[in-house]
Amino acid sequence: MNNSKSKNERAYHLIVWGASGFTGRLVAEYLLGQYGVGGELRWAMAGRNQAKLETVREGLGEGSGAVPILLADSHDPDSLDALVSQTRVVCSTVGPFAKHGSELVAACVRAGTDYCDITGEAQWIRRMIDAHEEQAQASGARIVNCCGFDSIPSDLGCLFLNQAMQNRHGTPCDSVNMRVRRMRGAASGGTFASMLNAVEEARSDPQTRRTLGNPYGLNPRGETSGPDGPDQSSPRWDADVNSWTAPFVMAAINTRVVRRSNALMDYAYGRDFRYSEAMMTGRGAGGWARAVSITAAMAGFLLASSVGPTRALLGKLLPDPGEGPSADDRERGFFDIVMVGKAGERTLRARVKADRDPGYGATCKMLGESAVCLALEGDRLDVAGGFWTPASAMGTRLIARLENSAGMSFELEPEKAGAA
Ligand SMILES: NC(=O)c1ccc[n+]([C@@H]2O[C@H](COP(=O)([O-])OP(=O)(O)OC[C@H]3O[C@@H](n4cnc5c(N)ncnc54)[C@H](OP(=O)(O)O)[C@@H]3O)[C@@H](O)[C@H]2O)c1
Repeated sequence: MNNSKSKNERAYHLIVWGASGFTGRLVAEYLLGQYGVGGELRWAMAGRNQAKLETVREGLGEGSGAVPILLADSHDPDSLDALVSQTRVVCSTVGPFAKHGSELVAACVRAGTDYCDITGEAQWIRRMIDAHEEQAQASGARIVNCCGFDSIPSDLGCLFLNQAMQNRHGTPCDSVNMRVRRMRGAASGGTFASMLNAVEEARSDPQTRRTLGNPYGLNPRGETSGPDGPDQSSPRWDADVNSWTAPFVMAAINTRVVRRSNALMDYAYGRDFRYSEAMMTGRGAGGWARAVSITAAMAGFLLASSVGPTRALLGKLLPDPGEGPSADDRERGFFDIVMVGKAGERTLRARVKADRDPGYGATCKMLGESAVCLALEGDRLDVAGGFWTPASAMGTRLIARLENSAGMSFELEPEKAGAA
């Protein structure tokens, strides 16, 4: 068994795995700008291709020459064992995770190395929990999935709002409805590849369909039921935010993560706690029409990606792995989320915002800060080895980091605000 002392003696605080990819490069750039290298934070970039990593390193900015490069391959367990034993924490951007992530998680679990990633692939997380939870508890490895746009704003926003309700009114929320008020951003080739892979797995594997179809599909075994039904799948009017709403594509993972957090935190939000997500589309006929068109676009994408010929066509139209939104688009991007929490007659609203695009500009900071939190504050986190969520593992410490360094904010709104 590895204890935290031996972890603390390792050469690196953290390793960015997949630093040659679109998101991995942004994480490396963020860490270099924020923490330098080899000082307060000892970190390295890693991947499978030395030449590619060197090219990426050259483009990272001042001081980048000092960032060490390490090599391994996702499907070579010996190379992964050698990699993860050098560091306290691995943060991974190598996806689709269901295709390229399993051996890395197994290696971290063996070595007692903490791990965080930006997967949104619920079916894969379920497989990893079922395969490795016990061994992670024994080795001391803390595995924290979903440390990007899915699902940090939802998971930490829900924690923040529940704590506020508890502090003000002495009770957690009975329900929280998360509504995306505004958002600007686009997806990378790697993200589309992961979505297409999940659709493919759901088509061919009944267990995947069961996991994805269960609102509590990520909860601990024996606790996979509760009061929530399926995610919203059609346009709906929401009087609490005075807006039409449409299904939100990330709800499929975010809602599961929030419910798992509640279970892992001994039902701090209550056993009857309810949670939902949707996108606000505005009032009147225009708001309704937008909700209808988003619903139709999502259904169309799902259909096209599950049928052979259109799936092949999508593969040609979508960005390739390694491609993603431009620096300008990331700078101009943002998200603005409102969470409406209710406890009996009482209502509180929280606002979660970021000043960069959700998928990359903000995600690279969320993942970077999650990894730094595990690496530098790991001894002060009140969690042992096992599979955790961002809220249950790092909670308010991570909120503070994201507010201080990552351009994010978590705040309560005046009680009567919330119009579209
Ligand atoms: N949760 C969120 O909010 C969020 C946001 C953004 C992205 N994501 C997820 O993050 C993942 C990455 O997205 P991306 O756009 O950054 O993808 P990408 O640009 O295609 O990068 C993928 C990375 O994986 C590496 N890789 C692939 N196979 C490998 C192997 N066998 N061994 C070692 N490395 C290997 C690639 O290395 P090479 O460069 O050598 O090919 C590259 O570094 C996707 O799963 C995406 O869905 C999640």
